[in-house]
Amino acid sequence: MTTHLLTAADLDREEALLILDTAQQMAEAMTGREVRKLPTLRGRTVVNLFFEDSTRTRVSFETAAKRLSADVVNFSAKGSSVSKGESLKDTALTLQAMGADAVVVRHQACGAAHRLTQWIDGSVINAGDGTHQHPTQALLDAFTIRQHFGRIEGLRVGIVGDILHSRVARSNVDLLHELGAEVVLVAPPTLLPVGVDSWSARVSYDLDAVLPECDALMMLRVQRERMNASYFPSVREYARRYGLDSMRMGALPDESIVLHPGPMIRGMEIAAEVADSSKSMIVDQVANGIYIRMAVLYLLLSSKKGEAA
Ligand code: CP
Repeated sequence: MTTHLLTAADLDREEALLILDTAQQMAEAMTGREVRKLPTLRGRTVVNLFFEDSTRTRVSFETAAKRLSADVVNFSAKGSSVSKGESLKDTALTLQAMGADAVVVRHQACGAAHRLTQWIDGSVINAGDGTHQHPTQALLDAFTIRQHFGRIEGLRVGIVGDILHSRVARSNVDLLHELGAEVVLVAPPTLLPVGVDSWSARVSYDLDAVLPECDALMMLRVQRERMNASYFPSVREYARRYGLDSMRMGALPDESIVLHPGPMIRGMEIAAEVADSSKSMIVDQVANGIYIRMAVLYLLLSSKKGEAA
């Protein structure tokens, strides 16, 4: 792997499979161990730099780094000198001076992770930059799909909902296409970005028509915090057209699975009985996120300066 992980599009098939296979080894190494810790990154420092809220990504990067014995520094913009006006650059330089080997960054601005690489000597991992990319989410989704089906090639994956504001959708389209899946994007026209026709995915406005052909269905949260206008008439109308309820789940193939990156709004994009059903992989996604992030940290940090794992 290269020095940073900024977008899923940067990963070719070989690199993506290396991460998935390494994550599988991490999962196996953790299973049945009394002490769930490997000495691999002892003496390394991982900084979690979060300018946007997060539950899953922040906690799972922290857990992953600790399981590899790295020192972890958690930085949240809330309560820091960012609230006094300190810039991203000065925050980055401060962390650099403290000896960060890797910086995991989430920021509301597209391109923030890439910008950080110009100021930081260590590895930068994009944990979500605006509506742009969230590569480790796509990797954990691909891992979860492969865990269930034993493959990704030839599968059909539906991604449903607020595609316009979704870095998860963008990252998944890039990665799943690279790994040989066919992706179908399903959304109202108002929640599709300009230029979506050039993405490596088919587009549909009709969820009911797409359901019977999906091996995996990924429901997305409507990101109201990024909306400055009304994109659909009401929550009720959105749920009626694009929500996954029990009736719709019944139209999916028997072996199919349901995914959601979280946080989910039960009753809007996904009904509670679907989220809690046997088809739901939502909890597995969270667990697999730790293995994927262990793999990414290991591959980025252990290959630097010839230092052994
Ligand atoms: N999937 C995801 O990025 O969740 P968080 O916002 O909780 O990190």
